[in-house]
Amino acid sequence: MVARTANRTFDRTSLAIILAAGEGTRMASAQPKVLHAVAGKSLLAHVLDAVAKSGVAATAVVVGPGQDAVAAEARRVTPNAVSFIQRERRGTAHAVLAARAAIEQGADDILIVYGDTPLIRPATLARLRAPLAEGAALAVLGFRPADPTGYGRLIVQNDELIAIREETDASVNERAIALCNGGLMALAGDSALAILERIGDDNRKREFYLTDAVEIARAMKLRAVAVEVEEDDVRGINTKAQLAEAEAVAQQRLRKAALDSGVTFVAPETVFLSADTNFGRDVVVEPYVIFGEKVTVEDGAVIHSFSHLAGAHVGKGVSVGPFARLRPGTRLGEGARIGNFVEVKEAVIETGAKANHLSYIGDAFVGANANVGAGTITCNYDGADKHRTTIGKGAFIGSNSALVAPVEIGAGAYVGSGSVITENVPADALALGRSRQTIKEGWASRLRGLKSLGRKKTHARD
Ligand code: UD1
Ligand code: CA
Repeated sequence: MVARTANRTFDRTSLAIILAAGEGTRMASAQPKVLHAVAGKSLLAHVLDAVAKSGVAATAVVVGPGQDAVAAEARRVTPNAVSFIQRERRGTAHAVLAARAAIEQGADDILIVYGDTPLIRPATLARLRAPLAEGAALAVLGFRPADPTGYGRLIVQNDELIAIREETDASVNERAIALCNGGLMALAGDSALAILERIGDDNRKREFYLTDAVEIARAMKLRAVAVEVEEDDVRGINTKAQLAEAEAVAQQRLRKAALDSGVTFVAPETVFLSADTNFGRDVVVEPYVIFGEKVTVEDGAVIHSFSHLAGAHVGKGVSVGPFARLRPGTRLGEGARIGNFVEVKEAVIETGAKANHLSYIGDAFVGANANVGAGTITCNYDGADKHRTTIGKGAFIGSNSALVAPVEIGAGAYVGSGSVITENVPADALALGRSRQTIKEGWASRLRGLKSLGRKKTHARD
């Protein structure tokens, strides 16, 4: 039975309309609401990805005037998404009709998804569509939030959805209803436009509410239903506090997925992931590690505590941290070691190479099995431009060296500790770029002698 329903849904053509034109005033931010991030990924991208994964082929995104950045994000995530501009923000139904041209193309199922509902899962979208395959004209997702403030209430009788009442228009009794509108709606394509066109703005805010579609459908003798889902699927984000709550849910899901795929987290609740963090097999992540966007960690690597990674590729069996910082453009080859207080940026560290303590390696190439001693700095910036440092395979850079780029250290070469290297070092050579040490025999005891004389004199004067 369930399988048949799923197949029937699958056979139906579909269009998703993502509403993203709201101003997001309650976020108190200059940035459009749907571009705020959860797990390093915009709210809009979360919604678009879920829609695509649920098998919806055509996507329309409704953006506000001047929100080119929102349209660009939509194109980046879903290249065939078509953006429509809602010139005036007159409510959610008005926004849907901004995409009228897409609706007129005809689809069996029209899914309306709010761009500020990032935790929606593909399977939940499929559940929302399922009643349409059974003859309903309209379906919405309902949920019972811990705090219902701000949500529309679902009025359900005998398994049928009678109406959705917006909080501002609800009576005291209606406000007491626990079942709320998740904000996602599925409309049967053959009646969608007729319903949407009848929605008016006769309410306290004088907006065209999509939620009025329910009563209109019923007046047209069409069936409307509510599908109840978990709060976490449909949490809407209107405020920074709700953004933080959604982040917490997203982190829990990502941690669980990583654990299920075999990653070892010693203390999962202290590890922060991005939606695109990628783990191989038998990776160990110690407590308090942050994964920014675009990080891949290959099999058997260990990320020690208090490390921060972003835009980095960590090869097989690599050891990172504790207290390491990997910035974008870092590529660590198999078995490499990046130790405590080492920062790496835009650099390739080849197989087996090591930088174990207190270093900055930026705009660099470090050949296989090279050893970068404690305190080594690549001086990559001359105040105007960035320059590259190349360290050949098997080279040994003595502690506390400054490699002034552009500079090349040949394979197998040695750099004496404390050197400032400004010229290329040939392979297998030794480079010393520091002042020669001088020895003054007996100097210290002479000093002590002078001091004790001085002290006696002082005493004598006293
Ligand atoms: C809406 C629902 C409410 C539901 C809640 C779920 C309506 C009238 N209310 O309320 O029943 O419980 O979502 O989260 O639908 N938008 C536009 N153009 C507009 C207005 C809004 O594109 O003119 C977009 C917004 O960018 C947002 C979405 O529509 O992505 C929802 O708008 P919002 O103002 O957040 O609605 P809520 O008050 O949260
Ligand atoms: Ca909202």
